[in-house]
Amino acid sequence: MSFPNIRHRRLRTSAALRNLVRETTLHVHDLIYPLFVTEGTGIKEEISSMPGVYHFSLDNMAAELEEAAALGIQGILLFGVPSHKDAVGTSALEEDGIVQRATREIKRLHPDMLVIADTCLCQFTDHGHCGIIHHNEHTGCTEIDNDASLEQLVKTAVSQAKAGADIIAPSNMMDGFVSAIRAGLDAAGFENVPIMSYSVKYASSFYGPFREAAHSAPQFGDRKTYQMDPANAREALREAQSDVEEGADMLMVKPALAYMDVIRTLRDQFDLPIVAYNVSGEYSLVKAAAANGWIDEKAVVLEMLTGLKRAGADIILTYFAKDAARWLQGK
Ligand code: PBG
Repeated sequence: MSFPNIRHRRLRTSAALRNLVRETTLHVHDLIYPLFVTEGTGIKEEISSMPGVYHFSLDNMAAELEEAAALGIQGILLFGVPSHKDAVGTSALEEDGIVQRATREIKRLHPDMLVIADTCLCQFTDHGHCGIIHHNEHTGCTEIDNDASLEQLVKTAVSQAKAGADIIAPSNMMDGFVSAIRAGLDAAGFENVPIMSYSVKYASSFYGPFREAAHSAPQFGDRKTYQMDPANAREALREAQSDVEEGADMLMVKPALAYMDVIRTLRDQFDLPIVAYNVSGEYSLVKAAAANGWIDEKAVVLEMLTGLKRAGADIILTYFAKDAARWLQGK
């Protein structure tokens, strides 16, 4: 007759035993690596609030892609930083736009690398909002014009698919964006291109460093009319449900760490792959603490990413992808 609590410890007595009974494993195939691409030549410029993350010009990204591929990373999430911005985000949907050119270049260099195109207008509009804005004469307010934005976003998604993007990842949070983009892709002959929907995207302060990186901070107002209130969880289910009905192939929760309950709820409610976006602010917090010697970066990152998988994420978008891949190989 043993004391009951011993049973918990019996299975932890050696590394091999712990390996045997481990419930969650992190694998390099779970990870997607975000990449910022910019116009110009000879550019590899570090983003000051995100040490280790760079803007690359197209002629300068080969080494980075090679390194990611050699580590076993299978997917790149592409963000464009264009030189031209206007009110309607024209450079988001041009055939020779930065994302379209980068997509063709990545597929040329690494045909097997999955290119995931972020479909949004905020980096491409001079006002920095994710859609087209208009003046509402009744209220006197400047508002997002949902339907005009959808038209522009559909064109963007189709041009990204034409350039060779393997997955379309719309992050704009307009109402009806999944069905509009699905219909647009199908009509253009891209029935096989899946949609990774940013289904549950909170209006979060954790995007701060990204907005510096992508030069996409809103020039007036904020995104609270189209991104979700961090206080809401039931609403996340409604957002996800409508994306499922509209034809999303994967559901994303963003940010990740402060929203693990939402990841778990979506995992339990839906059978589609669940994606967690470990966003820029989450990256910068760890980097800053590690630079100060306050935490063990490798241990913290692996614990954090394993935690996201345990919470129910199948796929993790993370700026730590290369580091994690290396650490998982024991290097
Ligand atoms: C743009 C977009 C954002 C992020 C990804 N796509 C920023 C935003 O909505 O303000 C954030 C990513 C990050 O913080 O790492 N639609």
